[in-house]
Amino acid sequence: MSFPHHRPRRLRSTPAMRRLVAEHRVHTSDLILPVFVKEGISEPLPIPSMPGVVQHSSESLRRAAAQAAELGLGGIMLFGVPAERDAKGSGAIDENGILNRSIREVRQEVGDDIVVMSDLCLDEFTDHGHCGVLDAQGRVDNDATLEIYGEMAVAQALAGAHLLGPSGMMDGQVAVIRQALDQAGLSDIGVLAYAAKYASAFYGPFRDAVDSQLKGDRRTYQMDSANRREALLEVELDLEEGADMVMVKPAMSYLDILADVAAISPVPVAAYQISGEYAMIEATAANGWIDRQAAIQESVLSIKRAGADSILSYWAVELAEWMSK
Ligand code: PBG
Repeated sequence: MSFPHHRPRRLRSTPAMRRLVAEHRVHTSDLILPVFVKEGISEPLPIPSMPGVVQHSSESLRRAAAQAAELGLGGIMLFGVPAERDAKGSGAIDENGILNRSIREVRQEVGDDIVVMSDLCLDEFTDHGHCGVLDAQGRVDNDATLEIYGEMAVAQALAGAHLLGPSGMMDGQVAVIRQALDQAGLSDIGVLAYAAKYASAFYGPFRDAVDSQLKGDRRTYQMDSANRREALLEVELDLEEGADMVMVKPAMSYLDILADVAAISPVPVAAYQISGEYAMIEATAANGWIDRQAAIQESVLSIKRAGADSILSYWAVELAEWMSK
């Protein structure tokens, strides 16, 4: 009999051997923890469709931020859930609005020990739930929205955010934000652009997390999941407009996009493992149909392998704890 000439199995023979030859590994500092903070509550509230994730009170948010910094996570991304909303999303530019106030409190807590990021979008603040303001016909008005994004950027930066995450997919948003920051003397504050953000059914649980008021969908501004090449256009535009980092979102169903972007991007690339990705694994594990820890670790490693430098994950704390063992 003739023996196989090549035996790739040799390098898979023991855990130590596999560890030696692993091409990719996730570091704690790759991970960014998204957090929700809700106005007017004194105890954290569970989010039913995201078991294990909560809407924080100001107090519990401070503790979560301190823990994230302590663990050595790369960043924390704040989302605000206001008590009141209006057509223009005024709470977003109010220095005492829930998000701006929380950024300030988190910075007081963690200083520069972890990168503090903030979601820059109107959907949590508008009573209609869209990421921008509406025109007389009820359509999302791109340029009127940009003006508000510029003001939001300055408010978030003054509150203390290190990196702003515009997620509204308005055309020209990065340029407007960059210009507003520079004009306000805030040229050190960076932009993590949600460059390729797709209209996705997997955002479902997030709508619970922010008490979303949205009726309809976001398909006139978020990308169509049929499109791959267009992601490169979005990334190029955001880079031209001054993005310091770019993001692909969602992650799991868009790993091809992530790989494409990672191949061309001269700046760091982030990917967002979103609420529906979280909920799917949690629900499957709760049924006993999947090994929870193994599935979570594999999902995050796959995002890293596809090319992400940073990964936003609701499991960031748990992943870091597993890695430190
Ligand atoms: C918009 C925003 C959304 C998410 C992050 N930023 C919702 C949307 O675009 O519909 C989704 C995150 C997730 O699903 O985990 N501000």
